[in-house]
Amino acid sequence: MSKEFKRTLITSALPYANGPVHIGHLAGVYVPADIYARYLRLKGEDVLFIGGSDEHGVPIALKAKDEGVTPQEVVDRYHYIIKKSFEDFGISFDVYSRTSSAIHKKTASDFFRTLYDKGEFVEQTSEQYYDEEAKQFLADRYITGICPHCGNERAYGDQCEACGTSLSPMDLIEPKSAISGSVPVLKETKHWYLPLDKHEAWLEKWILEDHKEWKPNVYGQCKSWLDMGLQPRAVSRDLDWGVPVPVEGAEGKVLYVWFDAPIGYISNTIEVCQDQPEKYGDWTKWWKDEATKTINFIGKDNIVFHCIVFPAMLKADGSYILPENVPANEFLNLEGDKISTSRNWAVWLHEYLEDFPEKQDVLRYVLTANAPETKDNDFTWKDFQARNNNELVAILGNFVNRAMVLTQKFFEGKVPARAALTDYDQQTLEEFASVKKELETNLDNFRFRDALKDAMNLARIGNKYLADTEPWKLAKTDMERTATILNIALQITANLAIAFEPFLPFSAEKIKRLINKSDLKWSQLGSADLLPDEHPLNPPTLLFEKIEDEAVAKQVQKLEDSKKANEANP
Ligand code: 2FM
Ligand code: ZN
Repeated sequence: MSKEFKRTLITSALPYANGPVHIGHLAGVYVPADIYARYLRLKGEDVLFIGGSDEHGVPIALKAKDEGVTPQEVVDRYHYIIKKSFEDFGISFDVYSRTSSAIHKKTASDFFRTLYDKGEFVEQTSEQYYDEEAKQFLADRYITGICPHCGNERAYGDQCEACGTSLSPMDLIEPKSAISGSVPVLKETKHWYLPLDKHEAWLEKWILEDHKEWKPNVYGQCKSWLDMGLQPRAVSRDLDWGVPVPVEGAEGKVLYVWFDAPIGYISNTIEVCQDQPEKYGDWTKWWKDEATKTINFIGKDNIVFHCIVFPAMLKADGSYILPENVPANEFLNLEGDKISTSRNWAVWLHEYLEDFPEKQDVLRYVLTANAPETKDNDFTWKDFQARNNNELVAILGNFVNRAMVLTQKFFEGKVPARAALTDYDQQTLEEFASVKKELETNLDNFRFRDALKDAMNLARIGNKYLADTEPWKLAKTDMERTATILNIALQITANLAIAFEPFLPFSAEKIKRLINKSDLKWSQLGSADLLPDEHPLNPPTLLFEKIEDEAVAKQVQKLEDSKKANEANP
């Protein structure tokens, strides 16, 4: 059953503001979400694309403690670095805000209070680990110990990063406080739990029956959680960093970061709708109207929270709609090894731009062409160079440049009028229209890797057309035929500006500048009449340039240096 929607709300997982963002973030969540948002906007649809920093949680509090600064100072430092990286890479959020904002505190607090007043929580007192030296309860990452599953000695109270199992502090063998290193004692404390067990029946139907179209990795993870049976989940913590629990008798307690973070999508919607009401309207239409289609782009490790916990929260409130789809990618590795912030095994976005200024689209291209859509994938500098040189430069850049340069040379930079089309011309244009269909289907189904292949095929069709028709030779004998060929090549160029806009927004902009045409829409893709006869073009410039061996060797060396530094200081 396919529903009719009037608008699309796109959210992307809010990254923790405890470090800058790297290629794994971009490949997993933000480039796919941005491709989708740009595609829908180009189709003229009503879209709101939400981003923001996730600024609560234990890792941020711990980092602040380690550095002797406040958690607010930590998040202030990284929020702006992250925000700038996203801007630099053309991630076209309508809003990028943060969960330490006043609007968010109120929204999250009110959300909790509504559920509390409706009796949607279970209150429970239990024994939890307490650090007597630091005089503090030890939630999540405040406690470390041995993983009962794999024996990793540095497992955290919420998860073992070596084997990926999610844990609770009580599971750890030989628990230790991450603050003082002391052995914790057990002490009673009260918390609020969301009884997921009560939501299990409708979740099972909603996901397993009504959303069989979700990506297999997402569907599969949900199924295994549901098959195991859902348990009540604590939504509060004994901590001094976060949104205070808004009920009496909750002093020293805050909302669990995974309770408040997804509410950040709502807070950021409220913020942007308040700031620009004429553009976005009332926030409730994005969250409470069945005619809104919500798509949550998330990381692989966010699946349970977005597909089970957050929907249960929304349902418990009762006035919200549920997401239509929750696309998640798998992980991206780097040169055969897991990306790691603490081991500095990453390509940081702000550093990339220092070394490759103006080459945002090259990275966007490589990360999409090699996206970990169905399995973990590897980013290598060699592949980065090869894709730039053999695909962007040799196919897309080469085609556009040839069409531009030949028109400059033979027709003074003006679109020549075409005469009658040959069968081969017709066939080329038809081939183009059939790729368009496939491209749309892939974009509609979040298969961005295949969609990019389709877009590249359009450039290949153009390249082959020029190679087969050889207008540079024909110009000596048949100017009329040369004019027809270049007219078609320029119409194809205009089409490429449309097809690549979701993937390579900076290059699409450059193509539009070259052909001196700014107002192109998705509905025009496939048309052979985008540029009128005699339309003046701008002087040709190159879209992409070759990346030399030295530039890539420097990046590989940088990683080797990180590896050596890690070996010296394990
Ligand atoms: O995994 C993460 O980086 C989390 N900060 C994602 C939160 S998504 C949403 F709930 F905000
Ligand atoms: Zn483990």
